[in-house]
Amino acid sequence: MQFKRFTVTSALPYANGPVHIGHLAGVYVPADIYVRYLRLLGKDVVYIGGSDEHGVPITIKARKEGVPPREIVDRYHSMIKQSFEEFGISFDIYSRTSSDIHHNTAAEIFRTIFDKGVFDERSSMQLYDEAADQFLADRYVTGTCPHCSFEKAYGDQCENCGTSLSPLELINPRSALSGNVPVMKETTHWYLPLDKDEEWLREWILEGHKDDWKVNVYGQCKSWIDQGLRPRAVTRDLDWGVKVPIEGAEGKVLYVWFDAPIGYISATKEWAAALGKNWEPYWKSNDTKLVHFIGKDNIVFHCIIFPSILKAEGSYILPDNVPANEFMNLESEKISTSRNWAVWLHEYLLDFPGKQDVLRYALTANAPETKDNDFTWKDFQARNNNELVAIFGNFVNRTMVLTQKFYEGIVPEKGNAEGEYADIIRQISEFPALIASSLERYRFREAQGIFMDLARLGNKFLTDQEPWKLIRTDPQKVKEIIHLSIQICANLAIAGEPFLPFTSQKIRTMLGMGEITWEMAGNCALIPDGRQLGEAHLLFAKIEDDMIEHQVQKLRMTKEENTEAQLSSSVLPAQPSIEFNQFAAIDIRIATILEAEKVAKTKKLLKLKVDTGIDQRVVVSGIAEYYNPEEIIGKQVLLLVNLEPRDIKGIASQGMILMAENAAGELSFVESEKAFAAGSRVK
Ligand code: 2FM
Ligand code: ZN
Repeated sequence: MQFKRFTVTSALPYANGPVHIGHLAGVYVPADIYVRYLRLLGKDVVYIGGSDEHGVPITIKARKEGVPPREIVDRYHSMIKQSFEEFGISFDIYSRTSSDIHHNTAAEIFRTIFDKGVFDERSSMQLYDEAADQFLADRYVTGTCPHCSFEKAYGDQCENCGTSLSPLELINPRSALSGNVPVMKETTHWYLPLDKDEEWLREWILEGHKDDWKVNVYGQCKSWIDQGLRPRAVTRDLDWGVKVPIEGAEGKVLYVWFDAPIGYISATKEWAAALGKNWEPYWKSNDTKLVHFIGKDNIVFHCIIFPSILKAEGSYILPDNVPANEFMNLESEKISTSRNWAVWLHEYLLDFPGKQDVLRYALTANAPETKDNDFTWKDFQARNNNELVAIFGNFVNRTMVLTQKFYEGIVPEKGNAEGEYADIIRQISEFPALIASSLERYRFREAQGIFMDLARLGNKFLTDQEPWKLIRTDPQKVKEIIHLSIQICANLAIAGEPFLPFTSQKIRTMLGMGEITWEMAGNCALIPDGRQLGEAHLLFAKIEDDMIEHQVQKLRMTKEENTEAQLSSSVLPAQPSIEFNQFAAIDIRIATILEAEKVAKTKKLLKLKVDTGIDQRVVVSGIAEYYNPEEIIGKQVLLLVNLEPRDIKGIASQGMILMAENAAGELSFVESEKAFAAGSRVK
């Protein structure tokens, strides 16, 4: 099918935190490569982005900070928008779901479906937090996953096994607001009867897209459909979101996954209005290709739920493809916003100014297209130093420098090189189709690899030909070599634009190229004889070890902070209160350790002789894993002296040394700050 226009969307990130490399690798970089390619082809394309500003992730963050949700979304919307811009993600519009146009659009679509009588209205018992006076939808409730026993599963999804859940499925549910055990309370909601969509979904996806949807996407859809789809509530008892536009629904809003994907439509309307265009063909014409770029956790929403909403509304097209990626890990661990285990885009832009393309390149070279992949700083450095600098940059730089040196920067004439270089010229002409074929099948990593082969070809060509030597014996041939090298550089600028837009722009400036199109790629007569080239600038610089070490160190510190936080967060709750006289009955003294030895055949026990001030006695203590006998002689410790003697491994232990125990189970003596005499009472 020959499509007339393209509507390309990338998942709307929640405006509750900054964007990280996982988002970039999974969604925004591939989508951006794709739309840049389409634009070079001269296609009519709109690329939609924006913030997802509703839903529990936002309100939870707001509650944590004690500010209204509006403050959270305003903060992160502008931050994310700005860093995407700086990073070269070329949205045609970056909108937000808190806008009026979005509220109206989402409400209108809900209303149309409601008027058609599609929704089921149902009353049911739901989890309710009495202390917070709130129903516990989605992430407001946590508990144990019934599928994998993960203890911190959310009410809408288990992040451990990926299963989508409903709050009532959780084992031992707890309110995320108060930690309380919820009660059951009746409420009314509107359900999208997905069970009735099974047949057409089966036909559309399982039969219609078996060959062109990615295996991971197809597989997830199949498993959803095969398990049997169930009606899904599309409203919630919350006050942050799009109000349910019908009578009797006060205090209810649309489920965030009902309104968020409609955000793509609202944003298209906003974009079109600003340009005086009609938005409708981008969503309602069969000759429009709709493509959603998302991460794997969004597959069901984009392949099953959103299409069912659109189908129920009746006037919209369905996506032609949903090229979802798997996840990018960071240094072998899952990226996590709450644990700050991430490379944040805004921080990267500050730490590596002007190196947007390096990150784009590294993320694409390692893209999690078919399975989860790992980002490491070492790999990032190697991609830059061994590939971008040593191959691509080196080739373009040698070409520019030699042109400058031999011809004062003027493009030498081509001569009759066709014959001798016919094979190379043919290879160059074949590149665009190869890259395009990969791009059109959403294989961005493969496409970028082929693009780099073109740079490799150029670099090898110069190395093999050795024009710097040949200049003395065959200056005519050198002209031909340099001429052809300049054409390869021009080809790299075109074919590289989708992957490395900043670098492409630099080359185009150096070569004095005007507007480029994909059609020009593969041609070896792009830069005419006699053109004065611009100044040569290095495209890439080596990234030294210290820059990488700094990043690794940053992660190391995060890890330490997390361990500490984890330890302190696992502080045990206080014991029930006691009366003062119960405390007064406890006799604790400062005691001096006189002798210490290991108790034979045990790992943990030391036999100590201590001076209590009252007497000298023997105490057995379980500290052998933390203290060597010889290092504790002379220490003044706290001793419970009136504990009944106990027999431990055949030794009568008369009292107990008091120790502090941390969450990891490590033990530490508690010492008096001043050197008090043995026998001093602790109270
Ligand atoms: O998973 C997420 O981060 C969602 N905010 C994605 C929404 S995509 C679309 F539906 F808006
Ligand atoms: Zn699970």
